[in-house]
Amino acid sequence: MSVPAPVSDTLDTPLKQGKHRRIGVFDSGLGGLSVLRALHQYLPLAEMLYVADSGHAPYGEKDTAHIIARSEYITNFLLEQGAQAIVIACNTATAAAAQHLRARWPDVPIIGVEPGVKPAVTHSPSGRIGVLATPGTLASPKFQHLVERHGRNAEITLQACPGLAKEIEGGELDTPRLRELVAQFARPLQEAHSDTIVLGCTHYPFVRPLFEQVLGPGVRIIDTSDAVARHVAHLVTELPPCAPDSPSKPSDAISDGHIRFWSSGNTALLSQIVQRWFNLACAAQPLP
Ligand code: DGL
Repeated sequence: MSVPAPVSDTLDTPLKQGKHRRIGVFDSGLGGLSVLRALHQYLPLAEMLYVADSGHAPYGEKDTAHIIARSEYITNFLLEQGAQAIVIACNTATAAAAQHLRARWPDVPIIGVEPGVKPAVTHSPSGRIGVLATPGTLASPKFQHLVERHGRNAEITLQACPGLAKEIEGGELDTPRLRELVAQFARPLQEAHSDTIVLGCTHYPFVRPLFEQVLGPGVRIIDTSDAVARHVAHLVTELPPCAPDSPSKPSDAISDGHIRFWSSGNTALLSQIVQRWFNLACAAQPLP
């Protein structure tokens, strides 16, 4: 993936850059690519396996049992491919399934993502923050606890964004429909005078420029993908080097910084998007 050199000068050894470590990453679709991009910046030598469950997207409007079943299936697949740690690059799947996955695979590090309520409350000058997320994330008990834990002294406006992730899944990031949705979902936050807005879905960083245009320069936008990547980079140093091969792969399959992609939906579209958004040659395979 074409990204700048490691962002931290503390990441100065091949081990810290993820050499011979294999990380599985998944999302309902393209959104997790925002997390993958950050992971690759911190761990340029790690091998990454990415699953886009685009055939089942959006998760944000599906019931919890379905999301748990999909998350379990994909995690199992990634582990079969030799992943040593799993990053749930999806707020909705984290809220619905992280606890379940950790109970099922207690020895595997499973890292989730959650809306950045805590940093938003810390940074907001007025204490008025807004959270943009899927209906599923906002309705989840996990999110309620997050707000109870970190949002007590803040005035929080919650804005579900049905349809937004689905629109981003199309791969075009500046369409009239997207502009309309962004303006519609930003309005209640503007009316509430929120000065700090959390992007609580991994799809939304791809339309951050549209939100910035609508919200203006006085509003700070919080995206936690960098913090998640930093956490994973730290954790990776504790993993042993991965086995030289896995049952389904040839023995020379470990290549530094190599990223492999699977999709349960349109593999050609995923390959095209990875190529277009990241300038990386990609031949996505169908998720079995
Ligand atoms: N990218 C996902 C998230 O972070 C979910 C989008 C969706 O499939 O609804 O919540």
